[in-house]
Amino acid sequence: MTATGFEGKRGQTALVPAGDALGVPAVLLVGVGDPAAVTVDGLRRAGATVARAAGKVRTVATTLLDAAPRGTAEAAAQALAEGVLLGGYQFLEFKSQATPSALRRVSVLDGRAEVRRGLARGSAVGGATVWARDRVNEPPDTQSPAQFVAAARRRLAGTGVRVEVLTERQILAQRLGGVAGVGQGSARPPRFLKCTYEPTRRAPGHLALVGKGVVFDSGGLSLKTAAGMETMKTDMSGAAAVVAAMSVLGKVGVRHRVTGYVPLVENMPSGTAIRPGDVLRIRNGTTVEVLNTDAEGRLILADALSLAVENRVDAIVDLATLTGACVVALGDKIAGLMGNHDGWRDQVQGAADRAGEPVWPLPLPTDYRRLLDSEVADLKNVSAGGYGGALTAGIFLQQFVGDRPWVHLDIAGPSRASGDDGYLVKGGTGFGVRTLVELVSGFTVPEGTVTGANGASGKPRAARTVANRAGAAAKSTKKPTARKSLTPKPRPPRSR
Ligand code: BES
Ligand code: MN
Ligand code: ZN
Repeated sequence: MTATGFEGKRGQTALVPAGDALGVPAVLLVGVGDPAAVTVDGLRRAGATVARAAGKVRTVATTLLDAAPRGTAEAAAQALAEGVLLGGYQFLEFKSQATPSALRRVSVLDGRAEVRRGLARGSAVGGATVWARDRVNEPPDTQSPAQFVAAARRRLAGTGVRVEVLTERQILAQRLGGVAGVGQGSARPPRFLKCTYEPTRRAPGHLALVGKGVVFDSGGLSLKTAAGMETMKTDMSGAAAVVAAMSVLGKVGVRHRVTGYVPLVENMPSGTAIRPGDVLRIRNGTTVEVLNTDAEGRLILADALSLAVENRVDAIVDLATLTGACVVALGDKIAGLMGNHDGWRDQVQGAADRAGEPVWPLPLPTDYRRLLDSEVADLKNVSAGGYGGALTAGIFLQQFVGDRPWVHLDIAGPSRASGDDGYLVKGGTGFGVRTLVELVSGFTVPEGTVTGANGASGKPRAARTVANRAGAAAKSTKKPTARKSLTPKPRPPRSR
């Protein structure tokens, strides 16, 4: 072994011809580093190493789980399966001279029941993440909002998840002014996808998963630069993660009711596009002055969050490639985590930690709410000053979650990998799928009330009956209220 230079360092591999003794042509040595320091995520990486190193053979058997830390057999098996699927991922649809991996089967030499369970779960979650990556990597010309919906329908068929889709006319009729407004500049009309998972037994809780689905973000009339646009097919990563996670809830035996809210638009400049200065009316009645058409994600999410609130779900989590500012703050490996409820935020942080997806908390300072004050409407869509863009985007979303426990994950950084790294492959990462499945599996209904300013008026709004045409200036019917106090006060749950 010394002769091969193999020392067992993390990520190191060596292929050793086996002769006849073992009945196999070769043995692959995979380093996991210090045996006392191996983690569950380390096994995910080791799985990826196997998948990459064994691309020339059809089958591999592995004893890697022998390296799992004590008492983690099930989680380690899950991570190993995820690592194999994610590390071996290739997107070759448009490669004329493709060299696809030959690997078809990885057998884990461990027959324990918990290992079997972990492998099944990891295969399901890994497969879902692969689907999300495919969606993100798909070129935007073949992924209109309608085409994304078609792909989601195929993915969800036979999983027990019910799919409802609003067309552009229905989006207007339902007064989803944000979705209609952002979508109106594109030749390819918007869609709103709602998917519902209902377990057969009575569900203890009801969660909403919300995903930003901008199939391409040119910036609209506030046009991005050429370089800024290069990766903007990635702007539907939140939507892909939500649909992918929902597709395996039945398989992993989730007991709760889960509703996915996925607004889908293409943000384009054109003669029919929204203009800086236009005012949109969001589903919950709030009016928004659009000063920068490139801050479009928050506009479509506002409608989606409004619908989740109307549905009286127990908790909401949204995933969105929302701001470049979050990438500046945390880099491209870590997602920003914001929320209005400590317990719910802790649940999401815990799920992300267990899933091995890095997320880090950011604040939602009540004091920054005034940076979104508009001259003519309830809110403007970009903040004055321009600093702290990830936070003001979060505060914008917060205006639409009422008194519901809510967490926002800004995944603008980690939704795309700039190079191969462990189980990440250059391109779409499927970030969030693992966290969402973990979160829904371990969900408990959050207790207590939310913190911070909720709603532009601080009061729940009655549903509007006036028609809302996207792009038409909408006048708020709300009474002006006093400025919010600086210290967030907990609010009692709203009575129906
Ligand atoms: N989709 C972008 C955010 C983004 C940037 C995602 C980089 C991934 C990588 C979003 O719609 C956007 O354009 N945000 C603007 C907001 C600004 C106009 C307030 C941004 O971050 O520049
Ligand atoms: Mn944008
Ligand atoms: Zn965007």
